[in-house]
Amino acid sequence: MKLDIVILAAGKGRRMNSDLPKVLQPLAGRPLLAHVIATCNQLPEARVHVVYGHGGDAVRAAFSDEKSLHWHLQAEQLGTGHAVGCAMSTLTDNNSLVLVLYGDVPLVTGPTLERLIEQTEPRVAGHASPDDHDSAASEFPVLTDAVALLTLHAADPTGYGRIVRDRGDRVQRIVEEKDADDSQRRLQEVNTGVLACRTGLLRRWLGHLDNANAQGEYYLTDVIEMAVADGIPVNAQMVHDEDEVLGINDRIQLAAAETALRRRTAHTLMRDGVTLADPARLDVRGSLRCGRDVQIDVNCVFEGEVTLGDRVKVGPGAVIKDCTIAADSVIAANSVLEGAEVAGECTVGPMARLRPGAVLSHGARVGNFVEVKKSLIGAGSKVNHLTYIGDARIGAGVNVGCGTVTCNYDGRAKHKTVIEDGAFVGSGTMLVAPVKVGAKSYIGSGSTITRDTVPGTLTVGRARQTTVEHWTPPGSTED
Ligand code: UD1
Ligand code: CA
Repeated sequence: MKLDIVILAAGKGRRMNSDLPKVLQPLAGRPLLAHVIATCNQLPEARVHVVYGHGGDAVRAAFSDEKSLHWHLQAEQLGTGHAVGCAMSTLTDNNSLVLVLYGDVPLVTGPTLERLIEQTEPRVAGHASPDDHDSAASEFPVLTDAVALLTLHAADPTGYGRIVRDRGDRVQRIVEEKDADDSQRRLQEVNTGVLACRTGLLRRWLGHLDNANAQGEYYLTDVIEMAVADGIPVNAQMVHDEDEVLGINDRIQLAAAETALRRRTAHTLMRDGVTLADPARLDVRGSLRCGRDVQIDVNCVFEGEVTLGDRVKVGPGAVIKDCTIAADSVIAANSVLEGAEVAGECTVGPMARLRPGAVLSHGARVGNFVEVKKSLIGAGSKVNHLTYIGDARIGAGVNVGCGTVTCNYDGRAKHKTVIEDGAFVGSGTMLVAPVKVGAKSYIGSGSTITRDTVPGTLTVGRARQTTVEHWTPPGSTED
């Protein structure tokens, strides 16, 4: 069965009080709409349509990478029914299925949508009447399409459209909160905004919508009453996880969705074998892939694409973006890593900063208040304290003392520092690039190195210490 998915994303989101269109508000670091599109992409061969309007250019620009999206402009926001109508002209096959999603309901899952779509399948609606003279007819049941509607039993239904059922418990219609009377407002079964049915049926009903309601809008929800009038069954499927259908209209609901998504992500990680000190204090804004027995302490933030190997330990307050960290490495408290590659059995931090292009080889150590940018640190090498390493290539078994600076910038261009295997750089050394420290050479503390050092030698580049005897401090008077 062909499936078209129509995502409604044209609304302003007035209740956000923001200059950013609502569907671009970030949830776990990605726009609300990106979550809905990602879920659609899980449904095989669906054509995905987005109805956009408010903040149109910004919305389209945010998804310029998604080449397969079909965009439909709703120039004036006249309601959800009108919005769906804006996409209908390109949905030419009346026998295909259409699934409507709202751009501000971002946490609905693929399996829930697949189950809902099954609810549209033709059902036996009854048998041909007994006085039908065609004797064969009674053997063939009459098949009727259905409208599938995702509903929720909400502890607090405020703000949602309410599902009205008849005495026989059949869905009759949806009443928006602003149009509901007191008894309808007490109903706890609510509309999630997700529905599916045959394209031809929806087209017919949309053509009959009016805006005679409290908000003066063409409500999509009014098609339910029309389906009932046409004798088309409405199959309401109740979703059990309230988080999936959280509608986001204001920043309080946005924060609630963030909490819900955080919990979902944390549960997936823990089921996959990751230990989290506190699942409520972990933020994943992108994708985090973990090996076995990874441990993550509280208040860590992961952004972009992060991969942690087996038994990696991440201390409290680490911020890690677009990094690969191999097995048995430790990222200690409050370290900030971006675009770094850390091999196995390394130690980083506490309070270290790895910037893009930092590459640590096996067993390397980068300690507190050390910044590394676009540099390779060789196997087993140590840069443990208060140091800046930029545009450098450090070999294996090197020891870089406290307070060392690769002076890589002359005000115009960046220059490289090379430190060969086994070298020892004393504390407080300025390495004025371009410069090379020879293999197994030593540099005395406090040196300023402007020329390459010779392998296996000791270089000291500092002013000699002198002592002035019989010296009188300025301003002191003799007796
Ligand atoms: C809507 C439903 C309500 C349901 C709730 C679930 C209607 C009339 N009401 O109410 O029954 O319980 O969602 O969260 O459908 N949009 C457009 N163009 C428009 C108007 C809206 O694209 O002209 C988009 C919005 O960007 C939004 C979505 O449709 O993504 C829903 O609109 P919104 O105004 O938030 O509807 P609710 O009042 O939340
Ligand atoms: Ca809404």
